[in-house]
Amino acid sequence: MDKDSAEKRIPELRKIIEYHNQRYYQQDAPEISDAEYDGLMRELQELEKHYSDENIASSPTQRVGAAPLAKFASFSHPQAMLSLGNAFSAEDVLDFDARLKRLAKIDQIDYVAEPKLDGLAVNLIYENGLFIRGATRGDGATGEDVTQNLKTISSLPLKMKKSTHHLIPEFIEIRGEVYMERQPFSKLNLRRVEEGEEPFANPRNAAAGSLRQLDPKITARRPLNIFLYGIGTVSGLRFASHWEILKALAAWGFPVSPLIQQAPDIAACISYFEHMGSIRPGLPYEIDGVVLKVNNLTTQEILGNVSRSPRWAIACKFSAEQANTVIKDIIVQVGRMGALTPVAVMEPVNVGGVMVSRATLHNEDEILKKDIRIGDTVVIQRAGDVIPEVVQVIAIKRTGREKEFRIPHRCPECGSEIVRLDGEVAHRCVNLSCPAQIKEHIRHFSSRGAMDIEGLGEKVSAQLFDANLINDPADLYFLAKNQLLKLDRQAEKSVQKLLDAIEQSKTPPLDKFIFALGIRHVGERTAKLLAGHFGSMESLMKADVTELTLLNEIGPEIAQSIVEFFAEDKNRKVMEKFRRAGISPQTKASSSNALLQGKSFVFTGTMESMGRNEAKTLVENLGGSIHSNVTSKTSYVVAGSEPGSKLHKARAQGVSVISEEEFLKLVNRQTIT
Ligand code: IVH
Repeated sequence: MDKDSAEKRIPELRKIIEYHNQRYYQQDAPEISDAEYDGLMRELQELEKHYSDENIASSPTQRVGAAPLAKFASFSHPQAMLSLGNAFSAEDVLDFDARLKRLAKIDQIDYVAEPKLDGLAVNLIYENGLFIRGATRGDGATGEDVTQNLKTISSLPLKMKKSTHHLIPEFIEIRGEVYMERQPFSKLNLRRVEEGEEPFANPRNAAAGSLRQLDPKITARRPLNIFLYGIGTVSGLRFASHWEILKALAAWGFPVSPLIQQAPDIAACISYFEHMGSIRPGLPYEIDGVVLKVNNLTTQEILGNVSRSPRWAIACKFSAEQANTVIKDIIVQVGRMGALTPVAVMEPVNVGGVMVSRATLHNEDEILKKDIRIGDTVVIQRAGDVIPEVVQVIAIKRTGREKEFRIPHRCPECGSEIVRLDGEVAHRCVNLSCPAQIKEHIRHFSSRGAMDIEGLGEKVSAQLFDANLINDPADLYFLAKNQLLKLDRQAEKSVQKLLDAIEQSKTPPLDKFIFALGIRHVGERTAKLLAGHFGSMESLMKADVTELTLLNEIGPEIAQSIVEFFAEDKNRKVMEKFRRAGISPQTKASSSNALLQGKSFVFTGTMESMGRNEAKTLVENLGGSIHSNVTSKTSYVVAGSEPGSKLHKARAQGVSVISEEEFLKLVNRQTIT
């Protein structure tokens, strides 16, 4: 084909393929066969190889076709992704407005009111108008790099549109929500059930599960959508208001919710909330409230943040969705700390589009207070993705055949006596060797927020314990291949995968390791605090109650629990076993003293002493970040042997170029324990 014909055919093919992508992926109604589609795609790929043009970045050939990943890389957000404080009533909203006026010392605040989409938050990086990376929110500081999966979302522009009013910045972080519409969600679930797979509980879970697929081809088949509602770091542009940002996003071609409105005062916000509540059931996607944001960016800046949420925004939640059903039975589950949780097993019922058949009853006091009996008809409610709970019993439906429930005197798992400790609502099994507790403990240890050992979920943890291969989490590191091969349903490949995942978990971030230990009252946040303050396991283990309570946020109860944990003979033995296994938690330098805080790195060429991943971990542990493209904001370009074009770009932009040796000096100044 000659150049002229190719230049005509390329855009034509792109259009045709985009159309069939829509039919296939979004509408689930393909018009052509897979073979015909592949033919079009091949033709386009072939032409693009010879006649590449400036629009290639947004070509459908760039959306699909990336190879499956073994694991997601982690991604440090250049600017942290905050969460929102909640309001549950009009009164809360009025308080919010009054507080802001007082703090900002102004009499009138105008807002932007937006629907609160029920999906998952993502951060998109565009450099010079091109989508180069995207990540999930994660813990707000670090998320998972899901770039390839995001590219499969057809409404996400791979290239920003030029706009006369808004220049395209060299670097910009764009924030939004990936979600799934109700109807495609139901279709997807039907298909899954037909194919013998578990259906997703709700559109939010389906969206999250789809975006976190290691194989982008699977994500491409999921009907995902995206709305953008904010920005993070941006170079070279200044905006005066949030509304202006939204207008720029729309002008650049990003999908922005048409339901977003300006609200001149708080009364308008409350009307908006009511209006959205009334149109909510008819919307094609789920929303769980509205978000109010101060419009003026100077006012936003004056107000600032509190803890991990901005003071200038609030999420107003709709009240929970409710339904009636019958309690068929009440069972008891034993948690990691031995607490017994009564759970209602109910006639399955649809609550706001989701089938539920279990609800937590929290504890015995709660059951007595609400007078819940087996056989009762009850009102249950679901709020967001929280486990449903029983609101109240419908007393007039009682027949007299209902049965009262009491927590058993003996543990349903190990038969030990159940106690209720002073001042606690929970009943506990205090047998430290209770199988249910140990299994739960191992599952917690390997879970995502903790050691993140892939393939070691509830089932495998229980299987390893039942086969007598492990008694505590440290035993995981002494498992041998031949032992695992003897287990049911474990073949060579899966065993090797599990062993690799266990091996890989030997250098966890210190805070994740502390959290994984399962110390009572030590959640993810406290673990981070402890890791930041103590810097190593050794010093944490030596700390006494006085030293611990000196830390903000650590009260006597948490301190006592930590000290007791490390004093316990059994736990000391497990810690010693971890040491023998070579577990070496890594310290992420705390933000105030991080050596590379705010510094961004680009690597080019090959490094002698370490691979890219290792270098990335090093930089991130010291508070820096790694990017793939050089911009004027890049702090250092590290040039290994045979560096590529990035070196020239760095020189052209006046960015510092350092050698591998210089890089090592830079990172070695701070030792990592
Ligand atoms: S703004 C600092 N706007 O709600 C501002 N968030 O609880 C942070 N969300 O993680 C977010 N719709 O996943 C914002 N219009 C909207 C939103 C929205 C949904 C989610 C988002 C965020 C969570 C905060």
